[in-house]
Amino acid sequence: HGYISWESYANVSYFTRVLPPVPTDCPTPMGTKGPPQLPDAQLVAEEFFLRKKFHPDPQGTNLMFAFFAQHFTHQFFKTSGKMGHGFTRALGHGVDLGHLYGDNLERQHELRLFRDGKLKYQVVKGEIYPPTVLDAPVHMIYPKHIPAEKQLAVGQEVFGLLPGLMMYATIWLREHNRVCDLLKQIHPTWDDEQLFQTARLILIGETIKIVIEDYVQHLSGYFLQLKFDPELLFGVQFQYRNRIAVEFNQLYHWHPLMPDTFKIQDQEYSYNQFVYNTTMLMDYGVEALVDAFSRQQAGQIGGVPNIHKQLLKVAIGVIEESRLLRLQSFNEYRKRFGMKPYTSFQELTGEEETAAKLEALYRDIDALEFYPGLLVEKSQHNSIFGESMVEIGAPFSLKGLFGNPICSPEYWKPSTFGGDAGFQLVNTASLQKLVCLNVKRCPYVAFRVPGGGEDAVVLAKEKGPLDEL
Ligand SMILES: *[C@@H]1O[C@H](CO)[C@@H](O)[C@H](O)[C@H]1NC(C)=O
Ligand SMILES: *[C@@H]1O[C@H](CO)[C@@H](O)[C@H](O)[C@H]1NC(C)=O
Repeated sequence: HGYISWESYANVSYFTRVLPPVPTDCPTPMGTKGPPQLPDAQLVAEEFFLRKKFHPDPQGTNLMFAFFAQHFTHQFFKTSGKMGHGFTRALGHGVDLGHLYGDNLERQHELRLFRDGKLKYQVVKGEIYPPTVLDAPVHMIYPKHIPAEKQLAVGQEVFGLLPGLMMYATIWLREHNRVCDLLKQIHPTWDDEQLFQTARLILIGETIKIVIEDYVQHLSGYFLQLKFDPELLFGVQFQYRNRIAVEFNQLYHWHPLMPDTFKIQDQEYSYNQFVYNTTMLMDYGVEALVDAFSRQQAGQIGGVPNIHKQLLKVAIGVIEESRLLRLQSFNEYRKRFGMKPYTSFQELTGEEETAAKLEALYRDIDALEFYPGLLVEKSQHNSIFGESMVEIGAPFSLKGLFGNPICSPEYWKPSTFGGDAGFQLVNTASLQKLVCLNVKRCPYVAFRVPGGGEDAVVLAKEKGPLDEL
């Protein structure tokens, strides 16, 4: 709705939106500025997003990070194909781990073992993996030619798409069942339901801890250390609830992270070999994939045209959705998030060539669309993207993490997590522990490539700018 309404508040199938739509009776699609018809979305994507050569992220971000981002965000970004744009199937609107447990109770029940709180699993070559859809009959999205005995069943229906997603699904499934074992030792009298529910809360806590202290820590490039401590908010007014916004969904299309090929041990795989590959995860095992993904550079997101041609259609879809929803201009969002609007395309990109092409298509900087603005904005020094991605993304992200009910004074105590041991699991969680407590041999595991990013920045500083001369 372009106005405040009870329906859009109370019906949680709607995403929220930060700014109202451009009114339909405005002179131009972006309001009063710009051309009477916006440039073709495919043309915009080809001109400004299409990768000619791979630009590695200067912060050293790797594929382990890229797949974490995709896995994590697809619990709350689930645009409903059936109901249309502006609707979501992820009714928890945040970190509810619907991607592990399903977005509804029926699906959750199919995925549960109903013994000791655990999720169903299968054992292959002595290792634990998600069950097939034969054992856990839930709908998964796979190409028709893939037989049911090859289709793995997890909370999120799209995770068969990439071995990197199924790898994370496997790690978290092992973690859930591991936590159930620990809880049962402490509470031998607890029934399946209480073990399951408490393990889920622990995994939600672990997720938030890892997202803040490993994931956001890496993304920020900060030298100061971030800390997940909900008690920081206990003294101030804060509402423990969250609603996912369409603008957050638009902003989080970070497909430039994806490489040209996927390198595992001494093999290189194309998109055609990697996408919907149902054997790769078990061929290599979790350790080898974690190691490979942690060592492979991801692409820089903003400031360079860096989307692989196979993924360009996704970006085109983002632009088309923003037009259907009549999102306001990039500059209007800059203002809404406390930034000065750009006064020229040159100021936005920090150069002339792309700026001139943008100006030819959009005519006025105030008519530039939201997602294109985020991607073409000059990146900050040695950074993965520009100022706007940070200033707009961070508030959405922090509210989504700290607005979780487990962070509220009512929940944030040991008993919520089954006692001191469970609380300790939350308060000491890390990416490294998540992986290494669930595999036999601990691989190289991080969100940046060895020696990449911060190390490189520190080295450059120690050297000093004149040393290069
Ligand atoms: C939410 O809105 C959609 C679209 O109008 C509708 O189909 C759905 O039934 C509504 N949900 C509820 C719980 O009212
Ligand atoms: C899937 O990956 C394996 C390596 O694990 C490879 O041998 C196989 O060719 C790939 N499948 C397809 C269809 O490309």
